[in-house]
Amino acid sequence: MKTAEYSPGLEGIIAGTTTISHVNPERNSLMYRGYDIKDLVQNSTFEEVAYLMIRGHLPNQGEYDAFCSQLKQERSIPQTIIETFKTLPAKSNPMDMLKVGVALLALSDPDKDDDSHEANVRKAIRLVAKFPALITYSYRISRGQEIVQPDASLGHGENFLYMLLGKKPDSYISHVFDSSLICYVDHGFNASTFAARVTVSTLSDIYSGTLSAIGALKGPLHGGANEEAMKMLLEVGSPENAEAWVLDALATKKKIMGFGHREYKTGDPRAAILTEMGAEISEKLGDARWYKTASVVEATMNREKQILPNVDFPTSYIYYLMGLPIEIYTPIFALARIAGWTSHMIEQLDNNRLIRPKALYEGPQHVEYVARDRR
Ligand code: CMC
Repeated sequence: MKTAEYSPGLEGIIAGTTTISHVNPERNSLMYRGYDIKDLVQNSTFEEVAYLMIRGHLPNQGEYDAFCSQLKQERSIPQTIIETFKTLPAKSNPMDMLKVGVALLALSDPDKDDDSHEANVRKAIRLVAKFPALITYSYRISRGQEIVQPDASLGHGENFLYMLLGKKPDSYISHVFDSSLICYVDHGFNASTFAARVTVSTLSDIYSGTLSAIGALKGPLHGGANEEAMKMLLEVGSPENAEAWVLDALATKKKIMGFGHREYKTGDPRAAILTEMGAEISEKLGDARWYKTASVVEATMNREKQILPNVDFPTSYIYYLMGLPIEIYTPIFALARIAGWTSHMIEQLDNNRLIRPKALYEGPQHVEYVARDRR
């Protein structure tokens, strides 16, 4: 049996191997199957990246077209799920509703009793395709709005925006949104991906792993940070208030959401890409307030703590400028990360070993049992 040092939070521990994504803090880079995300953001689409993650190689034109039309064909969800969404409490948390949707979807998957590699790939594609309907239908129904049917003329990201807002986005907004999805697709053994891998390592199914992942992503130290970052920017209110606000928050030991990272200590490459887009979209939309406020928060954090923004900081104000409701930002993270989660679960199952670490026991030993009436 192998023995290892204890590291709180598993910091620095190698918990498995992967060929899916490479987080390289020394070079501030992130690669998906060997491709730099900068190149993917510049040249690719979310659909192509999802194919790359799930199938392991970039598609040729025929494979790409077939994959895009498969995603479109799989966009709908069973009516029973829509009916169940109508029974949920008004204004329920969208991540909690996503869990309900995924749990119900598992019951109707035609491959639910087949755990072969190919069946798992089909389930992965279905999950990627159906996340927009699960997120937007549950959101709109719980907010008393009519659902919006998917539009087959639109790509994955722009169709999500259409189903969420009921309005077709212009090509620039679609491009920025797609870029953010590409940045969110995968990130090594992050908490939600690891949770998914732990779950399927017991030979449980991909839907169960997805539920574990959604639960882990919801927390503010992980995907929940993009929503908290925007709430913070709204509280800060203006560039003029930002420095004093951050100093006060740091003095009272508050965490500044959207800053810091377990792996990158000198910059998150996704944040660099998206901050540039944040500047551009602010200029194009003629509203620089949030970008400028964010820039002062960033400069103050850098000066005071040398802590830099992570991916969730620029996405927060980018999504806000797009007019997206704040409580949908973490589900958007999931909308992209489902491609990474499912790829990791397939990789885990293709070469499985139960993930079952040891605990360092720190409690008492050999305590004498005292009968209840003598305690
Ligand atoms: N604001 C203020 N101080 C911070 C922050 C922050 N955002 N992040 C780290 N620190 C401080 C922390 O208080 C600690 O200081 P000290 O040594 O004096 O106690 C030091 O930096 C080291 O931090 P840590 O919490 O031990 O670092 P970690 O590797 O455990 O945590 C983190 C990484 C992401 C949980 C943390 O930076 C954090 O809580 N950030 C805010 C939440 C956030 O933005 N999460 C998104 C992560 S990236 C994308 C994603 O997964 O969604």
